[in-house]
Amino acid sequence: MSNNGDDRARGLLDLPKGRVEMRFSGKAVLVTGVASGLGRAVVQALATEGAKLVLVDRAEEKLETLVANLQSGGCEVVSIVGDVSQEQTSKDAIAQALSRYGTLDILINNAGINPTGTISQTDPAVWQQALDVNLKAAYLFCREAIPHMVDAGRGVIVNTASIAGQRASTAEAVYGVSKAGLIMLTRTIARDYGARGIRANAICPGVLEGIMADRLTRMSPDQVVARDQRFAPTVPLGRLGTYEEIAKSILFLASEDASYVNGAQLTVDGGLTA
Ligand SMILES: NC(=O)c1ccc[n+]([C@@H]2O[C@H](COP(=O)([O-])OP(=O)(O)OC[C@H]3O[C@@H](n4cnc5c(N)ncnc54)[C@H](O)[C@@H]3O)[C@@H](O)[C@H]2O)c1
Repeated sequence: MSNNGDDRARGLLDLPKGRVEMRFSGKAVLVTGVASGLGRAVVQALATEGAKLVLVDRAEEKLETLVANLQSGGCEVVSIVGDVSQEQTSKDAIAQALSRYGTLDILINNAGINPTGTISQTDPAVWQQALDVNLKAAYLFCREAIPHMVDAGRGVIVNTASIAGQRASTAEAVYGVSKAGLIMLTRTIARDYGARGIRANAICPGVLEGIMADRLTRMSPDQVVARDQRFAPTVPLGRLGTYEEIAKSILFLASEDASYVNGAQLTVDGGLTA
């Protein structure tokens, strides 16, 4: 069954049992699209490993709840409510990172929307909005962050793409195009800025248990069940992925464990596209 995480009644900072690695201790990390789903799982994992956070989302109430929860767990966090496709949001967010923490070590462009339809079914306005949120926003945030990373002589960028950007998915025309563009944006940055100490990588999740919030509003409960039943048997691992599993791979790319990984597309799909 799909589990969209928003309503999960669990503490955001429930620490795992046993020893926790602190790969992000003292690191300033900016994450977009954090109010639900994957972004929230990434933020929770980063906080557990000691990161100082700058969080960006347009969903004000959910963002406030997340921030309060993180602060009560002792995490240093600042938030910006805004639309990631607006240039001013990227300027405000990077300015906050620099004024609060004096640096920006890691940028994770994760916000996204999931319009569906073939190109004939996609209105020009929907086409433009998908490109703005899924691709242009990452360009704007990278454009704003990179000069500071170049000055620092180091920096890490992780962009949340999708397997939909690696091979065509049925009736996900503009979504796939936007994610393919995001993968190439990532590779371009890797090539242009690797010599300046900046690594840029894309994560390409497969089909996850959690359905993206905007898409979920267009689906009936029956359609949600049908989606799970249709996709799970097609995955070699026999199930859909969880947000926590993708978050672990994002943290790998963001960490020094991936110090020689640059310009990669890390597919995390249970073998769906193998
Ligand atoms: N869920 C999946 O099956 C799946 C699969 C592959 C890739 N992805 C990618 O993972 C990322 C996160 O997806 P999710 O499943 O967590 O979706 P989600 O809808 O739960 O989360 C997306 C977040 O982005 C925010 N957001 C959307 N548009 C924004 C805007 N214009 N400005 C600011 N914030 C905005 C939303 O408020 C939300 O908090 C997306 O980039 C998505 O394309 C998801």
